[in-house]
Amino acid sequence: MHHYNLCCVGFGNVGRALVRLLETKRSELRERYDIEWRLSGVMSRSLGYIADLDGLNPAELVAGTPRHAPLAPETTFEGWLKAADADVVFEMSSLNPLTGQPASGYLRSALQYGAHAITANKGPIVHAYRALRDLARARGRAFRFEATVMDGAPIFSLFQEALPAVQVRAFRGILNSTTNLILGEMEHGHSLEAAVRRAQQLGIAETDPSADLDGWDAAVKVAALVTVILDTPLHPDEVQRIGIRALDSAEVQAAHAAGTPYKLICTARRGAHGVEASVAPERLQPGDPFALVGGTSSVVHFETDVLPGITITEHNPSPTTTAYGLLADFIAAVRT
Ligand SMILES: NC(=O)c1ccc[n+]([C@@H]2O[C@H](COP(=O)([O-])OP(=O)(O)OC[C@H]3O[C@@H](n4cnc5c(N)ncnc54)[C@H](OP(=O)(O)O)[C@@H]3O)[C@@H](O)[C@H]2O)c1
Repeated sequence: MHHYNLCCVGFGNVGRALVRLLETKRSELRERYDIEWRLSGVMSRSLGYIADLDGLNPAELVAGTPRHAPLAPETTFEGWLKAADADVVFEMSSLNPLTGQPASGYLRSALQYGAHAITANKGPIVHAYRALRDLARARGRAFRFEATVMDGAPIFSLFQEALPAVQVRAFRGILNSTTNLILGEMEHGHSLEAAVRRAQQLGIAETDPSADLDGWDAAVKVAALVTVILDTPLHPDEVQRIGIRALDSAEVQAAHAAGTPYKLICTARRGAHGVEASVAPERLQPGDPFALVGGTSSVVHFETDVLPGITITEHNPSPTTTAYGLLADFIAAVRT
């Protein structure tokens, strides 16, 4: 049996879902993979640095009532990793699309300390992927990030593990759940503003929905996929980007009725002059299978040199499916 000290950086929706999922899967991890775990550290802006080598109580943390006082105010991130004797760090802090910080710094410190580093945060992928990958290799640890794009669906591990020696030439996808849901509401006659309010009531759109409506969230995901899967560093502002604000609800409704709905389509293709990538609303052709991807579901279709086409669809994601991406990375990290 292998015992691992797990540490969480950020403890919001995804952090709580991860701890719940780890508890649900505790006996399965033990029986199928010889994995025992304890939560030895949690940190966030409001919680401060919490650590206990005897194990923190997951239920108390999920309930927001940790029994442990935070470590002394002068504690550093490195000091916290040491106090928690971290074997695996799950980085789940908020996205900073402009710099990827402080998440990239947390991941670097985790790898330098000697822990496996696993993140749900796209920022470090678009701003520091190669540096973190190379550091992980040098330290003999894993740097994994399956949950960053399409939550729990296997996208990065598909090419890292299941499909070795395949060259990806292009991809096309629907990668932003919020705009897909909003377009679905508009198909039923709601205005853009009413559709945004509905998505906010469901807890899917943020209070400021600009990052989704203007295509920024989708552009960050495109940049992450291009950076890793097409092995070409690409910043989100290099993705040609048009959001959905200019779409008229009557036109969206008519397109849906004609079987050729509008979707916010993400594309990237390797050409003679590098990779061209875009995010833009597109009216689908009749019979396009992407028309069936509704609500918060997402899809991506890859063209490769060997397999002409392979498509992954994720239905109805939630924080638990994101947590599953982190859990799958944990199992992969400690088994290699
Ligand atoms: N929600 C999803 O289903 C989903 C899907 C894929 C990827 N992601 C990514 O997963 C990450 C977490 O998402 P979430 O939904 O759990 O967000 P959330 O509920 O807003 O939680 C964010 C957490 O990060 C902490 N945090 C923010 N800034 C920090 C900092 N500078 N240092 C340390 N902790 C910090 C917050 O702490 P305080 O509350 O104490 O400030 C909070 O605990 C994000 O990067 C997001 O893009 C989420």
